[in-house]
Amino acid sequence: MASPTALISETQAWKDLKGHVEDINKTHLRDLMSDAHRCESMMLEFEGLLLDYSRQRATVETMDKLLNLAKAAHLSEKISRMFNGEHINSTENRSVLHVALRAPKDAVIKADGKNVVPEVWNVLDKIKDFSEKIRSGSWVGATGKPLKDVIAIGIGGSFLGPLFVHTALQTDPEAAECAKGRQLRFLANIDPVDVARNINGLNPETTLVVVVSKTFTTAETMLNARTLRNWITTALGAPAVAKHMVAVSTNLALVEKFGIDPNNAFAFWDWVGGRYSVCSAVGVLPLSLQYGFSVVEKFLKGASSIDQHFQSTPFEKNIPVLLGLLSVWNVSFLGYPARVSMESNGKGVSIDGLPLPFETGEIDFGEPGTNGQHSFYQLIHQGRVIPCDFIGTVKSQQPVYLEGEVVSNHDELMSNFFAQPDALAYGKTPEQLQKENVSENLIPHKTFSGNRPSLSLLLPELSAYNVGQLLAIYEHRVAVQGFVWGINSFDQWGVELGKVLATQVRKQLHSSRTQGAAPEGFNYSTTTLLKRYLE
Ligand code: F6P
Repeated sequence: MASPTALISETQAWKDLKGHVEDINKTHLRDLMSDAHRCESMMLEFEGLLLDYSRQRATVETMDKLLNLAKAAHLSEKISRMFNGEHINSTENRSVLHVALRAPKDAVIKADGKNVVPEVWNVLDKIKDFSEKIRSGSWVGATGKPLKDVIAIGIGGSFLGPLFVHTALQTDPEAAECAKGRQLRFLANIDPVDVARNINGLNPETTLVVVVSKTFTTAETMLNARTLRNWITTALGAPAVAKHMVAVSTNLALVEKFGIDPNNAFAFWDWVGGRYSVCSAVGVLPLSLQYGFSVVEKFLKGASSIDQHFQSTPFEKNIPVLLGLLSVWNVSFLGYPARVSMESNGKGVSIDGLPLPFETGEIDFGEPGTNGQHSFYQLIHQGRVIPCDFIGTVKSQQPVYLEGEVVSNHDELMSNFFAQPDALAYGKTPEQLQKENVSENLIPHKTFSGNRPSLSLLLPELSAYNVGQLLAIYEHRVAVQGFVWGINSFDQWGVELGKVLATQVRKQLHSSRTQGAAPEGFNYSTTTLLKRYLE
């Protein structure tokens, strides 16, 4: 291993890539795409999932150099250390083992010398049992009615991952069938308007509230939990909490203090990062209540298949590794600041605390279907260069064939999936426009430089299994980027600063409201705004 304080940017492999940028700047994707041999080498398949990264601004030589960078960064050792449960989240002195959440029952994955897989499966079995009781109506609410609606309260990783999977599963016919007659809603934001939206049309008698919080201290989640507890107890009396509220947390003592029976709590562990928690009870409980455990189990199996692929496939055929290396290439060498497509990258210091002379993260954004085309695609075609990930499916699970139409609605959608990457790569030249008799004054407006990188992921369909695979690919991509950059992808101290400041403001609001105290200790701007707010 290199000395712990060596920055990756000091290695020869990094310097080689820096020098190589000049070569790549002399190429255009139009030409690179005409090399069939290159394109063939940039496609790979795993369990019917096809990755095409030929529209990246990279050559075979670039890929070799990136693989050298992976070696210089000791990527292989770092991946093994993660799977072996070493405390790679060093600033919090924790293992990073979200892969154990979806491991088969007979797998052995150790944290601090102890196999954690049996504990994982205890909780999964408890979720299976509980969700079956709720779904079958054998568990009823305080007034004897079955609980058909669920509100999951949580924020950040205790919300976004479950929401993503819920959104995807809604299109899966098997999942949709299992969800018939049931509703799953998510309450994250602290805005009282969101509480109102969540309970709108729901009856406390038939609603189960799941409080999801790793720490069980997050201000927004705890306030929303108290608000919905009030909603339930006002309608049904205090004892109703036992039937209408359950919790997911690593902090079972606080769950009990809040008033939720520990038997109705579903545990997870500190080796699961908040942003990597969707495969724990955080996601599995609400999703199993909505879709049934067997559907969610398929999602877990999909994620596990990618874990095994990530752990054991040589880097040149390893999907998350290649995606991670290409992201490093785009951010740190080509200087692209964003990507159209979960994470805790974006650090200013290395894992050893040294300031970094390079950027370690991109701003991700995206849209489903052609919605993006009708909003921000002008920017990505002619304005800033933003590498894109296009994700499509071979089969639609809700196909529509209009009478008399040969091309299905899914074909229409996918036409855009195939066309946009080429439009970005090739662009359009003034010469082409002249040949098309475009008037001279419009030529500059219709000229597109092209040479804009993208990659395409074609999945067989959006089944629960494939959704699990997709999730794991993106989780591991983040880890690969972090491992190469030499940062900790699993802590998030940056998020804390705003929280601490909000706590100070909250204290001020409390003393102003109770004692009429004038705001103090804030800058001119904040003091003025606070005074106006308090008036
Ligand atoms: O502030 C960010 C964060 O700590 C996330 O990592 C986490 O998912 C979220 O807040 C919610 O935290 P908790 O699950 O402890 O309520």
